[in-house]
Amino acid sequence: MKKILKWTFYLLLIGFVVIQFIRIDKSVPEYDKTGDFISVHKPDQKVADMLHNACYDCHSYESVYPWYAEIAPVSWWIGEHIEEGREHLNFSTWSAYDAGKQDDKLEESIEEIQENKMPDPNYIKMHSNADLSDSDKQILVSFLQSLRTNSGSIEGEEHEEEDED
Ligand code: HEC
Repeated sequence: MKKILKWTFYLLLIGFVVIQFIRIDKSVPEYDKTGDFISVHKPDQKVADMLHNACYDCHSYESVYPWYAEIAPVSWWIGEHIEEGREHLNFSTWSAYDAGKQDDKLEESIEEIQENKMPDPNYIKMHSNADLSDSDKQILVSFLQSLRTNSGSIEGEEHEEEDED
């Protein structure tokens, strides 16, 4: 019995070492940096920082990889998450979306932030600077809202028109 345990341990160890050779692809394609969301819309520094800290790791080509992204199999999971995030929304290639799609992405982003779904709660645990306060979220949401083309009225902010005479 002891022998089996010992060999199981060795096999797991060897397996762990071997999988380290399967690296994730961190390369990004050549892209036009002038088409980046922040370059296009020039938010103030605070909003730009929030986007960088809370969204850009998964939704842009400027991902900053943490040290544990070097260790398989965590690295594979992170790599897939980033790939999926970019597929859904890539701020680096923002200007490649047509106006309608940009508006959709803005609307969805506002919803995701308001419902505390983005940034991903698990991500926040490891990245405290992505943990936006309610007032920061409000600033970010207002900025995104200001870019919307067919925004209609902002929920909760409708006000009745007063009859003057
Ligand atoms: C840890 C990675 C990660 C971070 C950080 C992150 N996202 Fe995401 N996001 C994803 C992934 C993965 C998906 C796709 C799967 C899903 O919807 O959960 C996604 C989906 C979305 C979608 C849906 C897009 C669509 O077309 O379906 C929006 C909008 C979005 N994210 C906005 C944001 C915003 C805004 C931030 C920053 C406040 C942010 N995300 C931060 C990983 C992330």
